[in-house]
Amino acid sequence: MRVFCAADYGRASRVAANIISAQVIMKPDCVLGLATGSTPIGTYEELVRRYEQGDLDFSKVHSINLDEYRGLSPENDQSYRYFMNTHLFDFINIDKKNTYVPDGLEPDKEKACRDYEEIIKAHGGVDLQILGLGHNGHIGFNEPGSVFEKETHCVTLAENTREANARFFKSMDEVPTEAYTMGIGSIMRARKIVVIVTGESKREIVKKAFLGPVTPEVPASILQLHSDVILVGDEPALTDFPR
Ligand code: F6R
Repeated sequence: MRVFCAADYGRASRVAANIISAQVIMKPDCVLGLATGSTPIGTYEELVRRYEQGDLDFSKVHSINLDEYRGLSPENDQSYRYFMNTHLFDFINIDKKNTYVPDGLEPDKEKACRDYEEIIKAHGGVDLQILGLGHNGHIGFNEPGSVFEKETHCVTLAENTREANARFFKSMDEVPTEAYTMGIGSIMRARKIVVIVTGESKREIVKKAFLGPVTPEVPASILQLHSDVILVGDEPALTDFPR
């Protein structure tokens, strides 16, 4: 695993954007695995800036997102499809037909997951997967106790994950109880993985995930066994890492 420690959030976002830019330049028809959440917003802003400057071309890129709340439509401003459109896709020249987010409105759970896994396979897998890290060690919506081998599946959200995400909804009742997520098995098949961790609040869990034992209780710890992981963080999150 390679570790890039930047001084602050802005610089960490630029490092992550550098890696994604290199991927897009070296393989213009690459498959990017994308994440939502607060952490990658700065990275996406940076990619938009570079696109506007004429340095990046996303016209042949395909993207496959990690997860989506079950029951939310793409127009719902809390859906992850909406997030991706309004933070990235609307501002770059990616063809929206080439962007995939699990179908939150598909009522048949097995079909939703099977279809998504088919999409990943049909694209030959993910070249570069971007991940954030949950405070409980989750990646995607793979909560502590998740089975490492799993592919895309439907999860019941942990209460602390619902509480953490409640800030984006009008009330706790509106926070969905289930989500479709790529499994850890699907994530581990990505050829390269970039994990972005920023802020003091991530310090403890980054230490557990990357310096502690590999255990389903800390789902991200499995990333220690992937052959090409880059951890990009800022000083407050990576204080405990050897330099
Ligand atoms: C988002 C996702 C989540 C987040 C994680 C960290 O698609 O799958 O695992 O990456 O919850 O979220 P933030 O970045 O908001 O701290």
